[in-house]
Amino acid sequence: SSAAAPIASVPTALTSQPVISKDVTVLFGSQTGNSQGLAKKLAKRLEEQSFQVTLSSMSDFKPNNLKKVQNLLLIVSTHGEGDPPDNAISFYEFLHSKRAPQLEELRYSVLSLGDTSYEFFCQTGKDFDKRLQELGAKSLTDRVDCDVDFDELAAAWVSGVLNALNAASATAFVGGATTAVGSAASSESEYSRTNPFQAEVLENLNLNGRGSDRETRHVEISLEGSNLQYEPGDSLGVFPENHPRLVEEVIGAMGWNGASLVAVNKNGEERSLQEALTRFYEISVLTKPLLEQVAKLTNNDKLQELVAVGNEAELKSYISGRDLLDLVQDFSLEGVSASQFVSVLRKLPARLYSIASSSKASPDEVHITVRAVRYEANGRNRYGVCSVHLAERSPAGTALPVYIQSNPNFKLPSNPETPIIMIGPGTGVAPFRSFLAEREETGAEGKSWLFYGDQHFSTDFLYQVEWQRWLKDGVLTQLDVAFSRDTDQKVYVQNRMLEKSRELYQWLQEGAVVYICGDEKKMAHDVNAALITILEQEGGLSNDEALQYLANMQQQKRYQRDVY
Ligand code: 2AM
Repeated sequence: SSAAAPIASVPTALTSQPVISKDVTVLFGSQTGNSQGLAKKLAKRLEEQSFQVTLSSMSDFKPNNLKKVQNLLLIVSTHGEGDPPDNAISFYEFLHSKRAPQLEELRYSVLSLGDTSYEFFCQTGKDFDKRLQELGAKSLTDRVDCDVDFDELAAAWVSGVLNALNAASATAFVGGATTAVGSAASSESEYSRTNPFQAEVLENLNLNGRGSDRETRHVEISLEGSNLQYEPGDSLGVFPENHPRLVEEVIGAMGWNGASLVAVNKNGEERSLQEALTRFYEISVLTKPLLEQVAKLTNNDKLQELVAVGNEAELKSYISGRDLLDLVQDFSLEGVSASQFVSVLRKLPARLYSIASSSKASPDEVHITVRAVRYEANGRNRYGVCSVHLAERSPAGTALPVYIQSNPNFKLPSNPETPIIMIGPGTGVAPFRSFLAEREETGAEGKSWLFYGDQHFSTDFLYQVEWQRWLKDGVLTQLDVAFSRDTDQKVYVQNRMLEKSRELYQWLQEGAVVYICGDEKKMAHDVNAALITILEQEGGLSNDEALQYLANMQQQKRYQRDVY
């Protein structure tokens, strides 16, 4: 009866026949919370359509249960060099191992989140898709790979999946109006990524001392009137503006008129070209799909050669460290119409910053810690879009479009007595200011230990006075710092951890939660290696056992990372 025609009867007819209730398992692998947010919404819609939904993070799902699942929906993001998010790793490894069962009975679909400016775009989603095929599972709908601006494609994937599930289960709901996305609970703010709050900057200070190589801004922002709520560990999304000089130079190089009107969205809303390039479109990053589209649009031979199959390495090296101005100059693209050109640009995405405040200690405010990114590449000064917008063009009194991105994977332990170990060199220390402010405010009694590092003690000790006050008041139990450039030999946070390995192991055995925030590629990797060494040395574990110990900690949410 799976080919049954849609039943056009009114819902009351359902009372006479049992609704076939179908099981759907929705698993997410989420680092910053986007996949998790989408998965929750999807689960809600499925429930509204009478599906039996199991919603879980990949790390909480027992992979042995996979054999019992009929319909599997995966929503997963990709990080760094094509890596799965932390809470997807164990499931990913299981599926790719010999232990993975044959899954002929399973039907599945994958939604992958990623960023086309990275080489391994949506790799984790692609890997899951391929592997499930290999294990014999049947595709319910095609995988959808989303760029940073994922809303539309994600919504399309959701409708496709709902249709496919409905058609397959042949319930009386087929052909019925799909239920609208449930409206947010009344206590929730009306502001979100797709409708950011125009927040006022209250304070904007440079935390570094004179003579430092660094400029790190402490930005305090008002959330008054927004009803936006956050918890320690959450992030603030900030929509930046492009550098005015870059905007001007692109317009000049193309021979455009900044006052001419162009569309800024699919509804045909228009703005001046000047404003569109400042606030709506990304011009500081080149991506492969962008170059392909520009090549098509302009019929430019040289550009077509660059994007041709077989030239991937050259394309990758061209894209890196270059922006739209390089593109239009290097390929002499002047003369292409502005409206055509902007139609192929990506939307300017928000940047996420780990929140550095506690809303209990600073009601109606949110603080972030932002290092201004400035460097030279390919003969020109380059600026981090959002960090330099915050450093140079966001003094107190200006407005910033912001939203809260909750991060369920970086949270203080629910037990206020649980010890916490916080590793956060540089701006990675931001969420720990939030953690300690919260613990102070709530009178939490658990021990806490902070490892902090940066280049120089005298100029780069972010929030020094606050840590020392918390140390004195007992809110912070222990503080170890590593200033890498004050001594001949570099010292990093992981060196300090190794120096204190016995005590650190003791804390782990007492159930401490370990948090790492900051640079992923080097720091977080080396800190992980240090933890393994400590477990081997102090716990007498083999390398495999140490890895297992950390995997268990991760499973128990005692090893949490907010890395970028
Ligand atoms: P460096 O720049 O002197 O090498 C914050 O950026 C701090 O992190 C700096 O002191 C920086 O040192 C340090 N750092 C750089 N690489 C690191 C790594 N692999 N592990 C830990 N800290 C690192």
